[in-house]
Amino acid sequence: MCGIIGYIGKKQALPILINGLRRLEYRGYDSAGVAVSDGKKFTKIKAVGKIEKLAEKLKPLDLNGSVGIAHTRWATHGGVTEANAHPHSACADDLVIAHNGIIENYRELKEKFLKGHELKSETDTEILAHLIEVFYKGNLTEAVRTALKEVRGTYGLAAMHSDEPDKLVAARFGSPLVIGVGDGEYFLASDTSPMLAHTKEVIFLDDGEIAEISLSGLKISSLDSKNITKYSETIDWDEASAQKQGYEHFMLKEIFDQPAVFKDAIRGRYNLTEGTAHLGGLNMTSEQMHSVSRVILLACGTASYAALVGKYALERLAGIPTEVDVGSEFRYRDPIIDRNTLVFGITQSGETADTLAALREAKRKGAFVRGIVNVIGSTLARETDGGTYMHAGPELAVASTKAYTNMVAVLILYAIQFGRLNRLTQATGERLIAALLEIPTKMKEVLAQSERIKTIAEKYKDSVGMLFLGRGINYPVALEGSHKLKEISYIHSEAYPAGEMKHGANALLGPHFPVVAIMTKNQLYEKMRSSVEEVRARKSPLILIATVGDESARELADDVIYVPPTMELLEPLLNTIPLQLFAYHTAVALGRDVDRPRNLAKSVTVE
Ligand code: G6P
Repeated sequence: MCGIIGYIGKKQALPILINGLRRLEYRGYDSAGVAVSDGKKFTKIKAVGKIEKLAEKLKPLDLNGSVGIAHTRWATHGGVTEANAHPHSACADDLVIAHNGIIENYRELKEKFLKGHELKSETDTEILAHLIEVFYKGNLTEAVRTALKEVRGTYGLAAMHSDEPDKLVAARFGSPLVIGVGDGEYFLASDTSPMLAHTKEVIFLDDGEIAEISLSGLKISSLDSKNITKYSETIDWDEASAQKQGYEHFMLKEIFDQPAVFKDAIRGRYNLTEGTAHLGGLNMTSEQMHSVSRVILLACGTASYAALVGKYALERLAGIPTEVDVGSEFRYRDPIIDRNTLVFGITQSGETADTLAALREAKRKGAFVRGIVNVIGSTLARETDGGTYMHAGPELAVASTKAYTNMVAVLILYAIQFGRLNRLTQATGERLIAALLEIPTKMKEVLAQSERIKTIAEKYKDSVGMLFLGRGINYPVALEGSHKLKEISYIHSEAYPAGEMKHGANALLGPHFPVVAIMTKNQLYEKMRSSVEEVRARKSPLILIATVGDESARELADDVIYVPPTMELLEPLLNTIPLQLFAYHTAVALGRDVDRPRNLAKSVTVE
């Protein structure tokens, strides 16, 4: 995600920029940097770590200037190093930029325009800085415009040039930017949270717009040079709600982030015409990939339920026997591993002690060890010989939601990639990729039902326990739905594979005991429906997750939440979302501390 802040006015820029970065830290916090202009030249200071590290480094320096930009990073392209931190310059130090987003065609741009340019970082942003330098002929706005016409990808961009010291240039495509209008001063930021201390008058830039901000005024134009008139609006958010972008809790914001971050997880990693996926970070030759006879997925908590979805996908698409184990068990059970075993550690934080220990054990025994990780440069990312970043952006709520979705997305891509090496046909591969591309729109259809799910949650909030049922690919979904409910609402819940009910859990059923069942239209629909009818007969209140168009579900259930149809293996990407919302609204209705549930931590770095 990353955060940008810029200032132009008459005050000292540095304190405004640093305080602004502190407000933006929730967007990313692995490194940060600032550039301030004293009217002649820039001073650029960067540091690895949280904003406070940068602030400490700046303390002894006397950085004067009333124009500047700053950035807090959440690495997506290149490791967490000072060189990769923003702002970036080009060959000369007279240009600085800070950028959020991904420049997809950075390789092409480098080859076409940057012969003879010396790059100092591994970032796509630096390529953009050099590109602007190539086109700079004394007018920064025009250089930015020309450069962006060559770019494919997403950006929220802030740029300054020392030849035009009283000017900031901003541009947006896919990555938000807001301009704050003060009294003889302007602010620029990724969201409103850093400017609320200074002004509530803001202008939201739209995709394809470039803003030239100077003390003599603000000019907004389109990429093709048409002038655009925009008026400021007054916002009434406080700082905390601005960080949550108006959502009441980080968890709700992160649930709603899912359509966007899912796109980040799959972007550039599939080939529709060949019906395949390509996760380059795997670092295995095709010979080594062919030699894999077994996969083990190691994880804890929510990540372990994402791993279970991965097991179904890898076995079904690639025909590779796959096991899932939680780190705390695997590390002590003397696991059987050989050189043809591929082990993935799956973890949002990359720091979960049990997952790390389990992975080290697998490595000791000679397996191929890879990671599926969210936090760039985390311990697990550093200790594995390759793997994939899931690009979910910073996840702050303890209960994991968007990281789960992106773990599932990456595992499905791996299943397609390994599948295409053996039994998966191109036609099925194509259908899967096409269906993956439809997921974000379908996720939005589920999210649009949040208010109705809230009403359902309020109806059942006083239950003493609940049961979640699923079969096949929806059994892990039931496990995750139950996990979410118990961790944030503190209502006891269990998940069962529906076919197992007759061996014990049927004894729990009755009018006091609600059941949530996932009964979407797939090959196990009829089987699932029989189990649901048994629940009905025993008079448990029934909440069904059903496929749009399945009107018969209404006759069976007390409440139905409809989800759009998709290919069976992709159903968890949609079916988990109503359960996340159900848990969230139940916890809110009970007055729980949703983002920080009792006795739980976001990252469990001890055994
Ligand atoms: C903690 C969190 C869970 C998370 C689990 C694994 O228990 O509360 O939300 O699923 O750790 O975390 P990881 O960072 O390894 O995915």
